Amino acid sequence: MHDPDAAPSHVPIVLAITGASGAIYAARLLRYLLASGRSVHLTISPSGVAVIEQELGVTIDLQRFDPTLLIDFSPAWSSRDWPPTDPKLLAGLTYHHYQNFLTPIASGSFLTAGMVICPCSGSTLAGIAHAASTNLVQRAAEVHLKERRKLVVVPRETPLSTFALENMQRLSAAGAIVLPAMPGWYHGVDSLDDLVDFVVSRILDQFGIDNSIISRWEGPTVGGQR
Ligand SMILES: Cc1cc2nc3c(=O)[nH]c(=O)nc-3n(C[C@H](O)[C@H](O)[C@H](O)COP(=O)(O)O)c2cc1C
Repeated sequence: MHDPDAAPSHVPIVLAITGASGAIYAARLLRYLLASGRSVHLTISPSGVAVIEQELGVTIDLQRFDPTLLIDFSPAWSSRDWPPTDPKLLAGLTYHHYQNFLTPIASGSFLTAGMVICPCSGSTLAGIAHAASTNLVQRAAEVHLKERRKLVVVPRETPLSTFALENMQRLSAAGAIVLPAMPGWYHGVDSLDDLVDFVVSRILDQFGIDNSIISRWEGPTVGGQR
């Protein structure tokens, strides 16, 4: 996926983790983004921390964030090995506290290759759709919209309220990509890892990041076998 001797790509991608279910998508996305050699600017909401703790059993300290807790997270249900990430790739990660509006990603003058909010809660959807910007996640998202840069939101909720649907429509109309955490089942699913990777692969595709973490559709199969 990446030449380990290459420096991280210096046009960063912004990743925000908020308090919707699906923390594993964020953990994997962060790992794959760094593995692709991209620089990442990361911020996490307090509800994002609560969901990470609930779903992954990992305690995140927002004041002293340790990225390896997420990047190297290995779920008990995973059928794969998740060796520690090359420390050189961690140099590509910059963390920002969710209340710090003095960070570069709060300004349109700081160039990025786009932003993804994964997972994206209904509250964060609403805050962005109504230009409320009560924290750095929402401010950075608004910056991406005003600068006409890529913004990918990954909501996870079911069923969807009329308000959530309206907020998604507003964001889509403003140029955001609404990419719900809805894994497909058509790509040859052998494990939960494959379902996680389906969503993460679709996000990486949005940023043009070469990935072969899932089998791509090449026509119909019978009983999952091509
Ligand atoms: C364990 C847990 C799971 C949650 N799952 C979802 C969810 O799937 N979707 C959602 O929109 N909100 C979910 N919430 C509620 C949000 O965390 C809550 O609305 C919060 O205000 C979101 O704040 P944030 O957008 O700043 O992260 C969940 C909360 C908890 C504690």
